[in-house]
Amino acid sequence: MAQTSLPKTHKALILTARGQPLEVKDSPTPQPAPGNAIIRIISALVVNYSGEVYSGKRYYPFPTPLVPGYSAVGRVAAVGADSTLLKQDQLVMIESTIRSRDNSDDVFLLGVISGFSDGSRKLMDGEWRNGTWAEYAKVPLENCYPLNEDRLLNELKYSVEVLNQLGQLFVPYGGLSDINVKPGETVIVTPATGPFGSAGVRVAVAMGARVIAMGRNEAALDTLRSSLPKGRVITIPLTEDAEQIGKELAKHAPIDAYFDISPPVAQGTHYLKTCIMSLRRGGRVSLMGGFMEDVALPHHKIMHSSIELKGTWMSTREQNLRLIRMVEQGILSLGAEQGWSLKGKFALEDWEQAFACARDNAGPGEFVVMSP
Ligand SMILES: NC(=O)c1ccc[n+]([C@@H]2O[C@H](COP(=O)([O-])OP(=O)(O)OC[C@H]3O[C@@H](n4cnc5c(N)ncnc54)[C@H](OP(=O)(O)O)[C@@H]3O)[C@@H](O)[C@H]2O)c1
Repeated sequence: MAQTSLPKTHKALILTARGQPLEVKDSPTPQPAPGNAIIRIISALVVNYSGEVYSGKRYYPFPTPLVPGYSAVGRVAAVGADSTLLKQDQLVMIESTIRSRDNSDDVFLLGVISGFSDGSRKLMDGEWRNGTWAEYAKVPLENCYPLNEDRLLNELKYSVEVLNQLGQLFVPYGGLSDINVKPGETVIVTPATGPFGSAGVRVAVAMGARVIAMGRNEAALDTLRSSLPKGRVITIPLTEDAEQIGKELAKHAPIDAYFDISPPVAQGTHYLKTCIMSLRRGGRVSLMGGFMEDVALPHHKIMHSSIELKGTWMSTREQNLRLIRMVEQGILSLGAEQGWSLKGKFALEDWEQAFACARDNAGPGEFVVMSP
């Protein structure tokens, strides 16, 4: 493929040291080589807790200096000689989970966390150091997903920014797909009101399930329920009254599966146990939450009812391809009628406003992007 000539330098948002202000700097433009693609970034997702991650308040291991930024939408600017799929200028989605090519145990997230093995740290320290908050990003070929531009932009009338929601949807699809959620099943999602949690509700509905969405914020639960087809989402407010919640859940038995994507601050909550206790014999549990410490689980119930527990970090390439097809086919909508709402689009220089906007707009369907 003919390569666009890349500029010698490009603008990148750089974190010099954890907790320091980020700075936009002219940096050498990454170059194509076997195994990689150079993507011209159009817009990149800003997760609501980005400010906590890059200030160090929420401690994620990563090397500095670093160009942060994870999933993004862009166009192919150049590819290594071993690429056989990607085309010049093609619209692509970048998904941020990078796996070592010769050891699948070594996994990390581009621009955000270096993972938990020597191999994953080696990859983020070196070859795959920098993320997507820049004009150009170098990513593994397998992390680029061609998008059907005509279908998504012309027929379904999505803006390019809206496609960033894929980055939020891939995550719960990983867990829901790992526990094999099927049409007609009933699935609990906790908490259902945050960005990844509410994305989990939408994905489970698109997979054909009826969802019991639980969360502390009743207004957010109402917003979520009313944005999805009638009867597909039941809401139960999360209170400290485990017994009462158990009774509410029992009204919707049999419950087939439970998907949890709790934030670290929910450590010690009763609802993990309460929800597992509500499952039918052979029920499945997907654990995707960010708990930093051990959690207590109802062993007696798990053993006697043959409950399956499955942990999932992010999603696989095969799952991401399927999720994109669900969106392209219109099974999973990214439209405003389903409650999706772009709350802000910021230049790299305005990263502080972007972090604040994402933090303050983390309800169901809300999202924020940075655009170099
Ligand atoms: N396994 C993976 O691959 C993966 C990937 C991405 C993220 N995660 C994890 O998923 C977590 C959730 O993400 P998110 O997008 O939902 O955003 P988040 O900002 O981390 O969490 C917000 C959600 O948590 C709820 N919440 C906050 N404090 C709570 C508490 N003490 N008890 C119960 N619920 C509480 C909020 O509900 P209220 O409305 O009640 O405040 C809201 O639903 C992240 O923090 C991260 O650790 C995991």
